[in-house]
Amino acid sequence: MEFMFDKEKNKEKIERFRQIIQDHKETKGALMPVLQGAQEIFGYLPAEMLQLISEELDIPLSEIYGVATFYSQFSFIPKGENIISICLGTACYVKGAQDILEDFEKLLGIKAGQTTGDMKFSISSTRCIGDCSMAPVVTVNEDIYPRLKKEQVKEIILKYGGEIK
Ligand code: FES
Repeated sequence: MEFMFDKEKNKEKIERFRQIIQDHKETKGALMPVLQGAQEIFGYLPAEMLQLISEELDIPLSEIYGVATFYSQFSFIPKGENIISICLGTACYVKGAQDILEDFEKLLGIKAGQTTGDMKFSISSTRCIGDCSMAPVVTVNEDIYPRLKKEQVKEIILKYGGEIK
């Protein structure tokens, strides 16, 4: 299951964030500091908060997304405890990395770029990480898994405390 923003659980953070918006509301160029505030408080930019910014600062949502996507410091999804990263560079791709990625997606019930509902895992795909002779390469946090076989996908999820659905 994919991660959902829980307004109830984030009540206090939302209040803090509202205050940041109020503090900047009347100043020119308020959008950047407000976005930075959201990133800091929530660890990413929840869609619900972007909506709030749009209403409060009277800036169209499309413009806010435009600015936020331009800067790499902003992220649109929360990061899970464990980041599983599958290299989809040419060498890894040829050796079946796409299949491995799909296995992770299937077993965790999320797509690349998403985080599981329990915040345990995020999946991302990367370009060549420079270990092509070890293809296909998967990393989990700082751990590197060279020449990964499909059979290992389950093992890896279990090793990092995941459940197989
Ligand atoms: S293509 Fe994956 S490490 Fe180079």
